[in-house]
Parts: sequence; C-alpha cells; structure tokens
Amino acid sequence: MPWRALVLEFPQLLLAFWTLVLIELAPSILAADFAHLADQVERATAGGASVIHVDIMDGHFVPNLTLGPPVVKSLRRATRLPLDCHLMIENPDQFVPEFAEAGANWISVHQEVCRNLNRTLNLIKQHECRAGVVINPATPVETLSEVLDIVDYVLVMSVNPGFGAQKFIPGTLHKIAKLAEIRTARGCEYRIEVDGGIGLDTVAEVVRAGAEILVSGSAVFGKGDAKVNAQALLEAARSASLQRV
Ligand code: DX5
Ligand code: ZN
Repeated sequence: MPWRALVLEFPQLLLAFWTLVLIELAPSILAADFAHLADQVERATAGGASVIHVDIMDGHFVPNLTLGPPVVKSLRRATRLPLDCHLMIENPDQFVPEFAEAGANWISVHQEVCRNLNRTLNLIKQHECRAGVVINPATPVETLSEVLDIVDYVLVMSVNPGFGAQKFIPGTLHKIAKLAEIRTARGCEYRIEVDGGIGLDTVAEVVRAGAEILVSGSAVFGKGDAKVNAQALLEAARSASLQRV
C-alpha cells in the first residue's frame, strides 16, 4: 500500500530533506585569484556555493596579512550571497562596525582574543550581522558554554588559522560532534561551521560529525574550475549528510 508507506515514512523523508537543505558550501576567497575575484566568486556560486567566506588576518593574532573593509565593500557589489567575515584579528571590537558597514552579513570572532566575548557578540548583532564564535584546534568547546545561547553559529577550526592549504586535523572532529550534542541537549539554535583542510577527502567525515557550513579554499579555487569543484564538494557533503539521517 504505497500511500500508507509514504505516510509512515514522511517524518524520515522530511528529516532527509531538511538535512540536505542545511548543508552549505562557503568558499574561502583566500585561495582565489584576487585579480579575478568577481569571476571566481561567480563560478563558485554557479557550482552551488551559498555563502562567501572572507578571511581577515592582522599579522598579530595569526602570522599572515590579508584584506580589510575596502575589499569587502567591492565584494558586496560583486555578489548577492552573504559575506561571512572570519576575523582573525586581535581587536575585533574596533573593526566590527567597519566590516558591517562595508557589507558583511556574518561576522565571527575568535574566543581566544575576546576578553569580553558576550559584549563583542552583541556588538556584531547590534550591527545587524549574524554573530559567530570561532575556536582554534587547541581550544575546547567548554570555553563557549556561556555564549552558546546567543551565537548564530560556531566555527570549528580544523587547522591552525593563518594559511590556506594546510592539512586537516582529525582531532578536531569530536568538537563538531560535541557541539551538535550540546545543541540538542540545550535546545540552542546555532549552526556549526568548519574551516581548514576541507576537500573531497575530508568533507564526508566533518558532515557525519555534524558540520553544516563547510568552508573550503584550496579545494574550490586551488586548481581547475571553481564551479566543478564546488559541485563535487557539495555532492559529497550531501550524500554524507544522508548517512546521518
Ligand atoms: C585559515 C582560513 C581558512 C582557509 C581555508 O586560516 O581561516 O578559511 O582559507 O583554506 P583551505 O580550505 O585551503 O584549508
Ligand atoms: Zn576562515
């Protein structure tokens, strides 16, 4: 009796659909050709990317320099996708207003640099951006316990921040799983993002652990066509997400 079977399986089908919808690819422009940024972002978007990840480094918190609000402002004109600004800087409070003004939609700050994390997250929200908190590989999930109710997303670094094309650290997987568990237990609403070393060889395990927003730089822009690369990553991520259901 097909109708009866359909009705019985409806909740499972709904869950599978919802799981697929939650998976998002956020290409990191750090690995893109900056002379052709708009084209590269457009190719990744054509491949299914739904968020653009922008790495901001200050040469202090991490040993590298990247870009600032003017590039975010130009990107804002080049894409309609949300701009996810990952601030790897020591004094985020000073720059949150400028990045928001430049067109950032999501702003994340590192737990390791925020002396007043609650205040910084609220500052991001006051500027009408989604507020994210980031933890380095050596930072435990427990350090976030008091902000999990107010953050929109948690970003788990799966490499030490500062550079693209580093090797994925498998020891960070348990933190993704723990964040998913805590979310269910506490009824929180944050989403779980992962960043660093995400490619065709690692995407399935981070998704199975519970990651939903997948940052990927070199696997999208490193070689070949960003559209094809993004499609392949999303396909692998979505089939892994179905294994979770
Ligand atoms: C590292 C950055 C990442 C980086 C990811 O500090 O936060 O976003 O660009 O690059 P891949 O995907 O090449 O590891
Ligand atoms: Zn990043």
